Amino acid sequence: MSYHKATVRDVPLEHKTVLVRADYNVPMTSDGKIDDDLRIRASVPTLQYLLERGCKVVVMSHLGRPEAREAKFSLQPVAKHLEELLEKPVAFVEDCIGDKVVQAVKNAHPGSVVLLENLRYYPEEEADNADFAKKIATATGARYFVQDGFGVVHRAHASTDAITHCIPSVSGLLLEKEYVTITEAMEKPARPLVAVLGGAKISDKIKVIEKFVEVADRIIIGGAMANTFLEYRGTNVGASLVEHDQTEVLDGIYHAAREKVGEEGIDDFLILPTDVAVAKEPTPDATRRVVAVDDIPANQKALDVGDKTIEKVAAAIDEAQTVIWNGTLGFAEIPAFAHGSARVALELATHPDTVSIIGGGDTADFVLRWDGHGGASFTHVSTGGGASLELMSGKKLPGVESLLGAKK
Ligand code: ADP
Ligand code: 3PG
Ligand code: MG
Repeated sequence: MSYHKATVRDVPLEHKTVLVRADYNVPMTSDGKIDDDLRIRASVPTLQYLLERGCKVVVMSHLGRPEAREAKFSLQPVAKHLEELLEKPVAFVEDCIGDKVVQAVKNAHPGSVVLLENLRYYPEEEADNADFAKKIATATGARYFVQDGFGVVHRAHASTDAITHCIPSVSGLLLEKEYVTITEAMEKPARPLVAVLGGAKISDKIKVIEKFVEVADRIIIGGAMANTFLEYRGTNVGASLVEHDQTEVLDGIYHAAREKVGEEGIDDFLILPTDVAVAKEPTPDATRRVVAVDDIPANQKALDVGDKTIEKVAAAIDEAQTVIWNGTLGFAEIPAFAHGSARVALELATHPDTVSIIGGGDTADFVLRWDGHGGASFTHVSTGGGASLELMSGKKLPGVESLLGAKK
């Protein structure tokens, strides 16, 4: 599938100053260490590409949702980590506009990297402010802007939208790879296409569930989301996490599903758990007790899919040619309730010919911890949470639409 936007390969950026938007919004530990570096590792190919061409590379990002300039939101630890990954010094600037940036870019050698401080220290970033974007463009003196922050392209912010009105703007290699991999799997998948959907809430993922009803051959529902489906279908889910206000949404989902597969095919198309692992609370010392969904005790919570359901999920994955997975199938932060998610990861890792695409912050975290090979056991671990969901739903992404089109 050809990508509809120009990329770094399409413009003569050799020896130029190039401004790159990355998404270094990475989870940090309470003592200020990077907890998961997927997004930093994923930015390396584009940076290498530019460095090999003698560019001065100026990188900008946000981190978290700061309300003030607080050390815990500083990108300084990312600069250190990037230095190790690139095996090159990365000059960190304590601002993203103004004289400090001008000086740092002036002092930088061609073939070197400058990382700017958190864009969200300025409210103008999220306000998509044109003057702020102009200040970034003039301070860096960049001749090209490269959007490579896939995780943030669903936002119309100064660094994803307004900046593209100041500097000729193209895609980086990560953005292109994410976009093409996800779009291809949604639009022209090797079939059967199985969607594995879980996580906390239906309300976060309505559009993507609706889309999968359209495009998938089977949908497996797990996580707390399954409780809401089960309750809608008349099951008493005890003290489980459940959303009671989703009746209309579920009416719509079941209506569309029946139109597609008929009443008789519905339970094999929208696959709900038949058994679940329950406990009073998801505490580290809780024991896993599996019950049929009709036997969930009133004071207990369904925290994972049960063993029979796990076998059914594994069989569906075994038959699939493409699996798209978003949302853990249980409270996977606690090993006793990570059985369902671990089995999905295992099935995908042991079916290397099956295209496996994993999206969602918590799901990506889980598989990276499970994998131990940095995600190499899967076809694609997306760096996008909200962005991958919006792309799968078929929504246009403002940070992509704003870029120059590909030459026909
Ligand atoms: P992602 O970030 O991958 O899109 P979500 O944020 O939607 O995933 O959901 C992940 C969260 O859902 C995790 O914190 C997990 O503990 C929670 N979760 C999954 N299943 C359950 C459950 N049965 N009960 C309570 N929480 C659950
Ligand atoms: C993300 O982590 O989803 C992106 O970095 C966007 O962050 P935001 O949800 O704070 O806009
Ligand atoms: Mg999440």
